[in-house]
Amino acid sequence: MPKIVFLPHSTLCPEGAVVEATEGESILDVALRNGIEIEHACEMSCACTTCHCVVREGFDSLEESTELEDDMLDKAWGLEAESRLSCQAKVTDEDLVVEIPKYSINHAREH
Ligand code: FES
Repeated sequence: MPKIVFLPHSTLCPEGAVVEATEGESILDVALRNGIEIEHACEMSCACTTCHCVVREGFDSLEESTELEDDMLDKAWGLEAESRLSCQAKVTDEDLVVEIPKYSINHAREH
């Protein structure tokens, strides 16, 4: 079974977590199932960016993002090359290391 390592996040999982995932599950589902309450304002329909995460390891094992996901990601706070919307990124058979950004768009300060 693939594992997901969630790096420590100050409020969602202060100690970080290592959890088991099932192939085909989204990163968000795995997190929620394990009590890591990543925001998901659009109920996983790829219409917001609150579930943004950065896949530090195993990024290439994920199915490629769709154009719609990429468009949404462009609006995410703290976008990186390995950013994904966690509700859209499905686990395969490889382990992942996932960082939940410090802010989501709901909290980001206006610049
Ligand atoms: S919950 Fe809105 S895009 Fe993932």
